[in-house]
Amino acid sequence: MPIKSKKDSASSAPIGIKVGILGGSKSDFPILQRAKDQLTLLGIDSELLALSAHRTPDQTIQYAKEAESRGLEIIIAGAGGAAHLAGVIAANTHLPVIGIPIPTEYLKGMDSLLSIVQMPRGIPVATVAIGNAENAALLAVAILALKYPEIRKNLLDFRAKQTQSVLENQ
Ligand code: RP5
Repeated sequence: MPIKSKKDSASSAPIGIKVGILGGSKSDFPILQRAKDQLTLLGIDSELLALSAHRTPDQTIQYAKEAESRGLEIIIAGAGGAAHLAGVIAANTHLPVIGIPIPTEYLKGMDSLLSIVQMPRGIPVATVAIGNAENAALLAVAILALKYPEIRKNLLDFRAKQTQSVLENQ
């Protein structure tokens, strides 16, 4: 899936890179869609799929192993409960993995947070706040900005507008 420029993005030229967004269940999609939307706003196309470390373990590992050859550069993984999806993905690719703890009914996402953030040493997962899909996208953009000047420009423009918006809405 190529990166295409969007009318509402800060960029007009195709960037040609991909971010993979995975949810442990389709029930995670309302939150994960916000990461996809944030990426789109900054001119980065992405794919959003449901893959589970426990319900579809073989396919999850296959996705991680094939990610680089498919052109993915970063993977965002959101899951809830005993949320091992991001860790399993990270164990099967050297690409950067960003984890989103999905809020849960009984423990309000504390279970997801600790499952994702407490990765043992050797295999990191960069973990954002519970439910904070926007920050997962923005962290992915910041990583991509190291390599792609156009993405760097989009990110700096976004940050400047955000600052301006706070100052103007007093
Ligand atoms: C996890 O279990 C998913 O990431 C989801 O957050 C949670 C509940 O999944 P469903 O029972 O709604 O499919 O694997």
